[in-house]
Amino acid sequence: MKNLTNKSIKVAVVGTGGWGKNHVRVLNDLGVLTAVCDSDQGRIDALSKKFKINSYLSIDTLLEKEIDLNACLVCTPTKTHFKVAREIIKHKINVFVEKPLSFSSVECIELTNLSKENNVILTSGYIERFNPVVQDLKQIIDDNRYGELLMMEFHRENRMPLHIKDVGIIYDTSVHDIDTALFIFNSKPNVVFARAGKKFHNSEDFATIMLGFPKNKVAIIASNWITPKKVRRFSAVCSEGTITGDFITQEIRIDDENQTIIPRRKFKEPLTLELENFIKAVSGNITKFLVTPEDATAVTRIAEAALISSNTGNPVYLSL
Ligand SMILES: NC(=O)c1ccc[n+]([C@@H]2O[C@H](COP(=O)([O-])OP(=O)(O)OC[C@H]3O[C@@H](n4cnc5c(N)ncnc54)[C@H](O)[C@@H]3O)[C@@H](O)[C@H]2O)c1
Repeated sequence: MKNLTNKSIKVAVVGTGGWGKNHVRVLNDLGVLTAVCDSDQGRIDALSKKFKINSYLSIDTLLEKEIDLNACLVCTPTKTHFKVAREIIKHKINVFVEKPLSFSSVECIELTNLSKENNVILTSGYIERFNPVVQDLKQIIDDNRYGELLMMEFHRENRMPLHIKDVGIIYDTSVHDIDTALFIFNSKPNVVFARAGKKFHNSEDFATIMLGFPKNKVAIIASNWITPKKVRRFSAVCSEGTITGDFITQEIRIDDENQTIIPRRKFKEPLTLELENFIKAVSGNITKFLVTPEDATAVTRIAEAALISSNTGNPVYLSL
């Protein structure tokens, strides 16, 4: 792939709702935003006026008119990801699909194969990998600074409005922590057990998932759309100390037998780091943290297993 500078890169955002508009803002800051596409006329009119870019009501028109796009971001509801991403890849355009890559692992595999056939980048929005607090944790664990990592626990909670209709909390929210657990353990679980239920939404809105890794290591992922206060925390228990962190404040705290350490570091917006990384990959530069389509497929397979487990009451054994 030839190296490009930001100035020569053209990126379109498909889906400019609650989250997509953040991609629009950051891509504009990075100097690569070329067009937006959304089936909602009001949304694209406002963005096209604000950022002075082209706008389209359908993906077909976008792909027909913008013939020199280098990449597209897909930020439409989860159950539309497959159809939209497939069209983009068929046009030989690099694509970043918001998480989860697709609702179905069969569709994830089809997109992966298609991206390889068409020689384009396919990645998915597992943004927490780019959160400085997760990068710090990864470094500590990989360096074995506090011994062996044995257990992880995640809490991702807050009262959510009813607007997410196509999927429940496992596909929408728990997937972030599933991906982070796989990233930090650098391994795949061989068993998934979950309990989930619904209180206010159409689909499940609270879930606790247990991922069993080799050698009895474990990750507990607790998510809900009930807690009135926003909580985004993790803890990692190592043989010689514990590391706790907050995804929102990006603060990390380390406790060992002798002391507590709270390292200081500048706050960085994970979305900017994530999109800079994607643009670097599109430019032909090697990237360190790019989420592979295989990583994203594994997360969807685990989400599928969690849903089956919570529906049947049984553990689901996997070989990933
Ligand atoms: N990485 C993160 O932290 C994060 C956070 C929030 C949402 N997301 C993901 O972003 C995606 C969108 O979530 P949202 O909360 O912004 O949803 P949303 O409903 O607010 O916005 C979706 C937008 O897509 C448009 N749309 C739907 N189908 C379309 C199509 N076929 N072509 C063009 N436009 C279409 C809708 O008109 C709407 O404007 C989801 O996959 C979600 O999981 C990721």
